[in-house]
Amino acid sequence: MMKIGVLISGGGTNLQAVIDAVHGKSGDIAVVISNKADAYGLERAQKADIPTSVILESDCADVDDFNKKMIGVLKDYGVELVVLAGFMRILTPAFIAAYPNRIVNIHPALIPSFCGEGFYGMRVHRAIFEYGAKVSGPTVHFVNEEADGGPIIAQKAVAIDDCDSPEAIAETVLREEHKLLPWVVEQICLGRVHVDGRLVTIDKA
Ligand code: GAR
Repeated sequence: MMKIGVLISGGGTNLQAVIDAVHGKSGDIAVVISNKADAYGLERAQKADIPTSVILESDCADVDDFNKKMIGVLKDYGVELVVLAGFMRILTPAFIAAYPNRIVNIHPALIPSFCGEGFYGMRVHRAIFEYGAKVSGPTVHFVNEEADGGPIIAQKAVAIDDCDSPEAIAETVLREEHKLLPWVVEQICLGRVHVDGRLVTIDKA
């Protein structure tokens, strides 16, 4: 089974979706790393008997050291696939080079809209609400050196014209995230996902 490392910063509802749909089935979550000591996702991992590691940037010499420490933990656990599930820091080129086309991120908008540096969490949904967009939805993509700029693996568009607040948009999109992310992780674990430059193809089941 493919060994997965999940990076989180918060509540971990996407982590939970991957635990429920993938862990012990098509893949094995070997470790969950958080950059926040109080991230609720850590409890979700512990409840599923998954090892956790907290790496605080304030304990590291600099951002390179922070990334090096994360790579160290992932390598210690034999991780082959890294999943960013609500991880709110940008990885260094050295981290990305350690896992080429082996890091996936879920972004809560339809890339290339409402993405890039500064677009994360509720900031994304507030921008979408203020813009008046009528459609949104999650994107799962491979991570490269450009923020939210790596090859797109899967997206799901949803109508948000009935949403009367950024929170309502977040809730609508999150429901789709919880289906899309586990599905993508499963497809990768099953060896069905292929990357050729920017083009990602997924074998039919
Ligand atoms: C999710 O909506 C995810 O797409 C977003 O943070 C939320 C985390 O929720 N990620 C980003 O904004 C990354 N740029 P969760 O902790 O409940 O999974």
